[in-house]
Amino acid sequence: MSLMNFRFWANSFTLICKMHTQKYNTELQTTSDGSHTLYRSDIDEHYHSTHGAITEAVHVYVRAGMLQVTNSPIRIFEVGFGTGLNALVSLHEAQNSNLLIEYTSIEFNVLSSEKYLALNYGSILNLDEAWATIHHANWNEKVKLNDFFTLYKIEADWLSFETDEKFDVVYYDAFAPEKQEEMWSEKLFQKIYNMLNTHGMLVTYSAKGIIKQALRAAGFKIKRLPGPPGKRHMIQAIKI
Ligand SMILES: C[S@@+](CC[C@H](N)C(=O)[O-])C[C@H]1O[C@@H](n2cnc3c(N)ncnc32)[C@H](O)[C@@H]1O
Repeated sequence: MSLMNFRFWANSFTLICKMHTQKYNTELQTTSDGSHTLYRSDIDEHYHSTHGAITEAVHVYVRAGMLQVTNSPIRIFEVGFGTGLNALVSLHEAQNSNLLIEYTSIEFNVLSSEKYLALNYGSILNLDEAWATIHHANWNEKVKLNDFFTLYKIEADWLSFETDEKFDVVYYDAFAPEKQEEMWSEKLFQKIYNMLNTHGMLVTYSAKGIIKQALRAAGFKIKRLPGPPGKRHMIQAIKI
């Protein structure tokens, strides 16, 4: 093999190694507000509320989380980037309310382009371009998407992830505790507590007793807020 041929194959091999492979298969479904969600049949679990994916994302993460913070920039950390819907609704609100956002999100099952391109969030919110920039942004690199929004998508396992960075709000969007018990432990909530600035908060869609107990044990003060459609309550946990 000539040197040129060898370089061509070596470069192609590096490119292939950098591509993300979706570990678990997902199926597209439509929720009650017309926005899509993904369903994982191996664990019988949806990525969002079937009562409205966009409605839930705005209610739990934007209104009860991001919009409660007065710092600028607002530093957000998300557990479970998934489809990128929470990032999109946060970017939308940042533009509408003139807020500076530094958004970090962790995910270990990066979706294939075929999956995220089929989702209708960009067209429903009239944000097709923003949707594309969120997904085209490189993983493991801080990328300034526009004057308001910087995105840092980290491909890693949250269970073993460590950082010295500090945040104002954590979007805790793991699969439900019945499906992924290990994601809701006191130890992980202590890790979040240490990652938050004083008066920072964690918000999550679930209001299960065992979650409140683990959050309290980690040092948080719990507020139970009205939940999105289909849920009586959600949790806002504040670092005191
Ligand atoms: C309920 S879905 C999140 C939906 C997402 N926030 C969205 O807007 O589409 C949970 C996500 O957490 C991810 N996840 C589960 N366990 C994880 C782990 N240990 N580390 C990183 N990501 C994890 C899943 O792959 C999935 O994408």
